Amino acid sequence: MIGVFDSGFGGLTVLAALRRHLPQYDYLFLADSARAPYGARSFDVIHEFTLEAVEWLFNEGCTLVVLACNTASARALRTIQQRHLPARRPDRRVLGVVRPSVEALAGLPPGAIPGVTQPSLTEGTVAVVGTEGTIASDSFGIELRKLAPRLELLQQACPLWVPLVEAGETEGPGADWFLHRYLDPLLAAPRPPRRLLLGCTHYPLLLPGIRRIVPAAVEVLTQGEIVATRLADWLARHPDHEARLTRGGARRIVTTDDPAWFAGASSRFLGEKLEVGRARLSPVA
Ligand code: DGL
Repeated sequence: MIGVFDSGFGGLTVLAALRRHLPQYDYLFLADSARAPYGARSFDVIHEFTLEAVEWLFNEGCTLVVLACNTASARALRTIQQRHLPARRPDRRVLGVVRPSVEALAGLPPGAIPGVTQPSLTEGTVAVVGTEGTIASDSFGIELRKLAPRLELLQQACPLWVPLVEAGETEGPGADWFLHRYLDPLLAAPRPPRRLLLGCTHYPLLLPGIRRIVPAAVEVLTQGEIVATRLADWLARHPDHEARLTRGGARRIVTTDDPAWFAGASSRFLGEKLEVGRARLSPVA
């Protein structure tokens, strides 16, 4: 089974893309809604919460976990991969969204080797928008400097976008004001971006408004398709892990908060009423 983790319901856009591209596998989606948003939390707290989520998904039978949450990928993934998995779960894998997104931003094929595979975009400016935690971590910058060192990266934290989406305020003059507030400085930069990555699971829900503000010449990337196509490639390159995934096309969705609230909030943008269960996470000793 593939576990998919997000702090909230935005990650359902990643789950939907995964199921479109890789429908044969079973999925378990966990949203830590009770403790979302993660965006402005400290490194230690995001790491602790993410590890609890990952361990919960492992205990439910997931052999592979995708951190759909950018904030968790940026703040917690490396420590989990480098410390927790080798010591406690050597047979499991946890993947994040930062590396595949940066590959797409630079126009690199999946699994590109730094310094060897040439990006299709070698010069110019690209941009990423994300939560405060994601942008403060400079995770996108660190990866981009490895993969495409001559590309300039503009980064913009948009702390008020997640609350807007959570409140269902994705359209109208109020939403547009907050979109302009963070997009205008990027677009007014001396070298404006050619590509803009929405580096947060909630932001695709603001895409129509973003698209109206950002000039048509700027390509706007969302992560669902990027993560799904690059996971398909990763599985092809890791047949031992692929072989361990269960195949039944099943989907289970759980939240740490009220399942009825979660089902209502997510049906607003998925247009589908979900069956949602409850998860209780425990501290990882
Ligand atoms: N899911 C988070 C992300 O992708 C955004 C929401 C939050 O701040 O928890 O960064």
